[in-house]
Amino acid sequence: MNYKRFIDKKIKEIKKIVGSGKAISVLSGGVDSSTATVLGRRALGGRLKTVFIDNGLMREDEPKDIVYIFKKLGIKVEIIDARDKFFRALKGKTDPEEKREAITKTFYKDVFKNILKKRKVKFLLQGTILTDIEEAVAGIKRQHNVLAQVGISPEKEYGYRVIEPLKELRKDDVRKVARILGIPKSITERIPFPGPALAARIIGEVTPEKILIIRKATSIVEKELKNSGAFQYFPVLMQDKATGIRNKKREFGNIIIIRCVESLDARVAILKRLPWKVLEKITKRITAEIPEVTRVCYDLTPKPPATIEYI
Ligand code: XMP
Repeated sequence: MNYKRFIDKKIKEIKKIVGSGKAISVLSGGVDSSTATVLGRRALGGRLKTVFIDNGLMREDEPKDIVYIFKKLGIKVEIIDARDKFFRALKGKTDPEEKREAITKTFYKDVFKNILKKRKVKFLLQGTILTDIEEAVAGIKRQHNVLAQVGISPEKEYGYRVIEPLKELRKDDVRKVARILGIPKSITERIPFPGPALAARIIGEVTPEKILIIRKATSIVEKELKNSGAFQYFPVLMQDKATGIRNKKREFGNIIIIRCVESLDARVAILKRLPWKVLEKITKRITAEIPEVTRVCYDLTPKPPATIEYI
């Protein structure tokens, strides 16, 4: 694939679709939405506004870091606080698909719709990639950002059009395009992070309290596995509990599973054989720094039969 030609083609396409209008890019901080944003910026200049939705489900310091990184790229990012909306939508939901649907609806029907309507903008630019579409179409799981391909017309249902310049690419190709566009390593080499964010790492109901636990665990795992060379690594908070001992007392605490996989493009994945020392250090840190957790396990399952995420 000729990546430079791809970039030129996409810039022209975005220009043509938007015409003299305006577009809004929704940035999540991952490589896909960052690449879509920079392409949009090249095509539309100041007619592209970039927003980051703080849905309360992001990793530690994420909103702040994103604003800083994009400022350096000359792109102003506006943070929109929608935390209450997402927690309200997720309340009481335990089924994985219902949770995903609640997040999709809150994004598209509520948050994006209001932003675009208020600013009289007709186009939403987003970083959907081919793997997202394939899995949603195959019915494996609802991807938070796949609409038209599963029969939802954003224009009819939400009143705006969605532009997806990366929908023919897989993750490894997106990374290559991102590097050519001058996006910094902290984004291009960043491990994938799903659209439903930390809500995808909680089995059962998502609550602000559980988000605090999984956010802390995510910081620990990401820090300890930063140099592992793995494709993706993260903790997941289980719904079941297990007995442990804390301060010489029996405690029925939370279970965290560590997932760390090797993959090229997330279609298939295999276990990363981490050294015991590393796993032991992660376990020690999680149980010491997060008092609500009494047990840490390591997942050995490849994809297939498992998926990479747990919901
Ligand atoms: P699974 O769990 O399906 O994940 O094996 C494959 C890759 O996709 C990421 N993922 C998502 N990305 N929206 C996204 O943007 C989603 O809803 C979503 N679900 C999973 C996952 O992290 C992995 O890299």
